[in-house]
Formats: sequence, C-alpha cells, structure tokens
Amino acid sequence: MTMTVNPAFWQGKRVFLTGHTGFKGGWMSLWLASMGAKVAGYALPPSTQPNLFEVANVAAALEENHSANICDREKLTAAMVAFRPDVVIHMAAQALVRFSYAEPVETYATNVMGTVHVLDAIRQCAGVRAAVIVTSDKCYQNNEWPWGYREDEPMGGYDPYSNSKGCAELVTSAYRQSFFPAGRYAEHGVAIASGRAGNVIGGGDWSADRLVPDAINAFQNGVSLKIRSPGAVRPWQHVLEPVSGYLVLAQALVEQGVAFDGGWNFGPSDDDARSVREVVELVIKKWGDCARWEQDGAEQPHEAHFLKLDCSKAKQYLGWRPSWHLEQAIGATVDWHRARSGGEDMQQVCLTQIRNYVEAAKQRAGTQ
Ligand SMILES: NC(=O)c1ccc[n+]([C@@H]2O[C@H](COP(=O)([O-])OP(=O)(O)OC[C@H]3O[C@@H](n4cnc5c(N)ncnc54)[C@H](O)[C@@H]3O)[C@@H](O)[C@H]2O)c1
Repeated sequence: MTMTVNPAFWQGKRVFLTGHTGFKGGWMSLWLASMGAKVAGYALPPSTQPNLFEVANVAAALEENHSANICDREKLTAAMVAFRPDVVIHMAAQALVRFSYAEPVETYATNVMGTVHVLDAIRQCAGVRAAVIVTSDKCYQNNEWPWGYREDEPMGGYDPYSNSKGCAELVTSAYRQSFFPAGRYAEHGVAIASGRAGNVIGGGDWSADRLVPDAINAFQNGVSLKIRSPGAVRPWQHVLEPVSGYLVLAQALVEQGVAFDGGWNFGPSDDDARSVREVVELVIKKWGDCARWEQDGAEQPHEAHFLKLDCSKAKQYLGWRPSWHLEQAIGATVDWHRARSGGEDMQQVCLTQIRNYVEAAKQRAGTQ
C-alpha cells in the first residue's frame, strides 16, 4: 500500500490543531487549509520575532484562532467541544531541549499535562474519529546506538524535554487502553496514534538553539556560526516530511480505525541521519557568500550524541516515505529565507513549496 496526503479526504474535514502558531503548526495549517479543511488552532501567541505565523499570515487560513494555554483545561475542552472536530492533531509543546534545563517544571506541565488535557477533552467531545499526538524521536531511551530506534523500544529521555515526550507517549498509551480500547472501537469510534519525528528544518523556524535557524541568522548577519557538537548525528528532515506523515496517519485512522493506532516513526532516509558538521557544510554551500562556522568551546548541557529512527513500520503499513533528501530540504530552507529577504508573499512561497513537495511525493509513490 502506498498512501500520500489525499486532498479529497481533507476537503471539509474539521481539524482541531494545537500548536498552530509554531513552526510545524504553521505549515500544517497552511497545507490543511489549501485542501479545504476547516482548522481551529489552539496555542499561545508566537514566541519569537519574527515568526512563521505572522510572516506567512497563517491566521488567514484558519476557521478559528484560539490564543490560549494548553494548561487551561476548561478553556481547551470548551474550545474543542464547541468546534466538533473530526480529527485532533496535538503538537503544542515546549519544544526546546536547552530551555527544558532552565524551565523543567513548565516543560513537564505543558508537554505532559497538556497532553493529558487534550486526550481528556477528546473524551468529552462527540464526533472525533482520530487523534494524532505529536511527540519526538527523543522519546526513546537513548542507548547511543548507531542503528535506528523502533516503535516498540522503551521510552526514556535524559533531559526534561526528551523525558517529557517519553511521558507524553505513556500518557497517550494509557488513555488509549483505558478510555478508547480497540475492543470497544464500535462504541467510542476514536482511533489514537502518536507520531515521532526527527529534527526538522525548513523556512520559518526562528527558535533559539536550533542549528539551521542559528546558521541562517548568523549568515544573514555576516557572522561566524558557533556550533556546540559538530560530531552529533541527528535524523534531519524537511518539516513537510513529518507533517505529511501525521496527515497520512490521520487519514488511515479515520478510514481504517484502530488497526493504525499506536506509535509511528517518521524519520528521514537512513543516509540523511548526518552529523551537525555535514549539515552546516551543506547550508554553507547553498548559502554561498562568506558563510563560515567555528566550534563553540563553552560548556554545554548533556545532549544525546547519536540518534536515528527506524521507519520500517510507516513504510510497510502506511506506505509513507520521505520524499526529499537532505540537500533538497536545505535547498528549500535557504530558498525560503532568500524569498523573504526579497520581499515575496511568504504564504504563497509556503504554498508553492507544499505543491513541490506533493509533486515529489507523487513521483516517489509512482516509482515504487
Ligand atoms: N522542531 C523539531 O525539530 C521537532 C522534532 C521532533 C518533535 N517535535 C515536536 O513537534 C511539535 C511542534 O514543534 P515545533 O518545532 O513546531 O515547535 P514550536 O516551538 O515552533 O511550536 C510550539 C507550539 O506549541 C505552542 N505552545 C507551547 N507551549 C504552549 C502552551 N503552554 N499552551 C498552548 N500552546 C503552547 C506554541 O505556542 C507553538 O504554537 C512539538 O510537539 C515538538 O516537541 C519538533
């Protein structure tokens, strides 16, 4: 089976999306709206200046725009119940490892109790058919293995962010077993899955302490990029890769139910798990000018050295595969930032990149 994102499926679907003011959420909102879905977003206001939400005018693509905290359980539940979604996609999170060392309590409150609130709101909400809970590749107990983690491996997480994502996975699993069990699907009608993706890159991410945003910021300002761990290996992918994975997964959950519940990895091809140094060299090659990097000698908090995902399950059962190699992902990211510097309409630039990605995915599907 090969599944790609199906516009006919999404036409008219009601989607409750948390985290729509963030990086992945902005791209997800624009893609869904372009297919005719009605999207209600629920998130805090954007936390960086600039941000994708404003730069690409994401608000214009939404049916409802709730600017609120996921820790406010009553508000979240009321917004979801009133919207009557067919699909819930939960991606709101405190998403930064280094910030989680500074603010562990806030990180756990948002990432763990926020997930509890979303799942509990679904219990109050008639008509939900599918929920995709977005966690992370960092949810796994990291053994510094050179091979990819599989969906059935133990949850873990050394730092508060990674660990909060492991906890969010456990919460999702407990809610599924306790309140939405497969054996009672005919009664409750809700299929719930989680998506674990790698390090995403793409236009419109200005978060602190992320490699590619830091690189583009340094190169735009003509300064040398400082990097912490040039040898660290991560599964790099364009933001549209996991976003397409979450959409395909939601389609499968609605159309085929609990057969698709559980955890799903959405990582890049094996050869795109590359070192920080290689990624920076590729960005420099694409950027040109006088872009350069140097090692940051300051003491750093612990971060895993080696992290890869095994995506055999998504390939085998969902027919999902990555469609852009790392070079294309970096090319699209640099082009996006160049277009912004050139004063282009950034919502249109996003929509063009989504169309290009869809075309690549179709060709990839056709050649299997
Ligand atoms: N960016 C990556 O490389 C990456 C990798 C793996 C997993 N993820 C996961 O994907 C999801 C989206 O990540 P992103 O890169 O778009 O992050 P982001 O920081 O750009 O966006 C986070 C979103 O969550 C919202 N949010 C944060 N705290 C909130 C709160 N208390 N109440 C309501 N909303 C809140 C923000 O307002 C924003 O809309 C997250 O769950 C993240 O953990 C990201």
